[in-house]
Amino acid sequence: MALRHCHNASDFEVAARRRLPKPLFDYVAGGADDETTKRANVAAFDRYQLVPRYLQDIREIDLRRTVLGCELAWPVILAPTGMSRMFHPDGECGVASAAEAAGVGYALSTMASASIEAIAQVSRGPKIYQLYLLADDGLNFAAIDRAKAAGYDAICLTVDTVVAGNRERDLRSGLTIPPRLGIGSLLQFARRPGWCRDHLLGGKFSMPNIAPPGAAATDISTLAAFFAQKMERHISWLRVQQLVRHWGGPFAIKGLQCAADAVLAAGHGVSAVIVSNHGGRQLDGTAATIDLVADIVDAADGRVEVILDGGVRRGTHVLKALAMGARACMIGRPYVYALAAFGQPGVVRLLELMRAETERGLALLGCSSVDQVGRRHLRLAAQVPAFLDERPISEPAIAQHQMHWTDR
Ligand SMILES: Cc1cc2nc3c(=O)[nH]c(=O)nc-3n(C[C@H](O)[C@H](O)[C@H](O)COP(=O)(O)O)c2cc1C
Repeated sequence: MALRHCHNASDFEVAARRRLPKPLFDYVAGGADDETTKRANVAAFDRYQLVPRYLQDIREIDLRRTVLGCELAWPVILAPTGMSRMFHPDGECGVASAAEAAGVGYALSTMASASIEAIAQVSRGPKIYQLYLLADDGLNFAAIDRAKAAGYDAICLTVDTVVAGNRERDLRSGLTIPPRLGIGSLLQFARRPGWCRDHLLGGKFSMPNIAPPGAAATDISTLAAFFAQKMERHISWLRVQQLVRHWGGPFAIKGLQCAADAVLAAGHGVSAVIVSNHGGRQLDGTAATIDLVADIVDAADGRVEVILDGGVRRGTHVLKALAMGARACMIGRPYVYALAAFGQPGVVRLLELMRAETERGLALLGCSSVDQVGRRHLRLAAQVPAFLDERPISEPAIAQHQMHWTDR
């Protein structure tokens, strides 16, 4: 499938499936356990319907919004995803450049295959460093200091990975990072010669943000093992407060799903809560994030910004989240698919398409700015018409109605 034939996020998923070896596609597409939450994240958007209010002046459309202190051209941030070079040699640098061109934020993962500094060199756009907390605060503070020195705008602490989720697609495919070929997987990789060529020519890749001080960041499996061993299993609010103070700028927590936690976050100096279930990759059976966001917005009561993450595939999804009260949305898999299929140009096109969808949707809603979208633009798909709501149909009323028609 050619890039010009991709017209929406789903098309990029199809294209990525055709280019990636199956174990790698499954690594991106997969979720935990039965993948119930992963599916629910997308499906739940259909529970809410948009209510346009026409006869408005929409000659100028303004999508700009300030989020985590960053001025975004439209309220989207590319979610942190690890090891982008595994999917395409353009990797994180290509994604960050595409994000800058689109005026959206980019969150660099701790597990990235590009360094904090390399991203700062290729992008002057809004940048967030995503932190996985390690049991060694020296390493945590060192990572924060690197982000500060490189001019990042915000930190995002991911708290929903204290243990690894159960991703059964990866267990079945036997995927290792970096990919190692066994007899079983050889055939699956051989079926994707384009990816194999790029992978072989792309050179060795590493995870330069998790190397212990002084160590060479070359052997990924050693680094990954070191990292898993050091992962902090007790992230306390006190630790959060210390990290917030050490950073001294906008600070987000990613992975909260409960209104009470958003209130606690506000009380501990956090600036934004990213409502997320890690794209359904961690605890299966949790709610779709779009179902949670309004209650969290209400509980936060303006003390923290609320960002929705998970299942966003359309500009209208962005609009539904904003209508609920979210400041912005994060997008994960769609841009990974676009990168995997076409490299940086793919991410550029995906963002152009999703921005156009958002802008068109806003105009068709009758709004000239993202700040005008509100809950008055939403209804529940299952909502019954108001006249039925007010006067439940009684048995005699139905009988009378039937008589009326049989009399004619
Ligand atoms: C391949 C992949 C790698 C990911 N790696 C990270 C990561 O390193 N850190 C993190 O906080 N979240 C990570 N996530 C979760 C995303 O940041 C985001 O929460 C999720 O993809 C949102 O759901 P969506 O894919 O439906 O948009 C990863 C997701 C995917 C698909």
